[in-house]
Amino acid sequence: MNIHIFDSGEQLDEAAAETICGFIRAKPGAVLGLATGETPLGIYRKLAEKFREGLISFRQVTTFNLDEYVNLPEDHPESYHAYMRRHLFDHIDLPPSRAHLPCGNAADLAAECQRYDALIEEAGGIDLQMLGIGHNGHIGFNEPGRELAAGTHVVRLAPETRRANARFFGSIDEVPERAVTMGVGTILKARLILLIAKGADKADIVRRALTGPITTECPASLLQTHPRLVVLLDRAAAKALGTAG
Ligand code: GLP
Repeated sequence: MNIHIFDSGEQLDEAAAETICGFIRAKPGAVLGLATGETPLGIYRKLAEKFREGLISFRQVTTFNLDEYVNLPEDHPESYHAYMRRHLFDHIDLPPSRAHLPCGNAADLAAECQRYDALIEEAGGIDLQMLGIGHNGHIGFNEPGRELAAGTHVVRLAPETRRANARFFGSIDEVPERAVTMGVGTILKARLILLIAKGADKADIVRRALTGPITTECPASLLQTHPRLVVLLDRAAAKALGTAG
């Protein structure tokens, strides 16, 4: 694993956006795995900026998002469909037909999960997967537990995840109870993984994920087994690692 620590979130965003752009320049038809939450916002801003400046095109790129809430209308401002449009898709030249998210409103969710996995396979798998990390070590919406599913599946969100995401919804009661998420097996199949964390509140889970035992009780710890894991941290998120200086 390769860990990079940045003095500011802005520098981290620039480095992450440059890594993604460099990747696309080398492989214009790259398949990107995308994340939501607060962490990638600055990176998406940078990507949109670079597109506006004519430095990058997403015309041949394919994207797969990690997850989506169940039973939240796609036009709800907090759906991940709406998030992606607002923060990235509306600002770049990615063809909408190649921007994929799981559908949390499918009548048959099991079939939707299979469809999503098949689509990822058909696209040749994920080249670069961007990941944030939840305070309990979740990646995508793969919550800690005694076991983890490999493929796309429906999950019941942990109470701490619903509490954390209540800040976007106004109240915890508004936060959906379930989500569809890519599984850890699919995430680990990505050829390159970019794990990103910012802020002191992530320091402890970053330490557990990167240096603790590999266990389903901390899904992000499974990333330690990946041959090409790049970790981008700001100083605050890195402070429990003992390498931040
Ligand atoms: C969310 C998402 C994850 C994200 C994580 C951390 O609920 N499903 O993909 O990485 O929680 O979010 P944030 O970046 O807002 O801290």
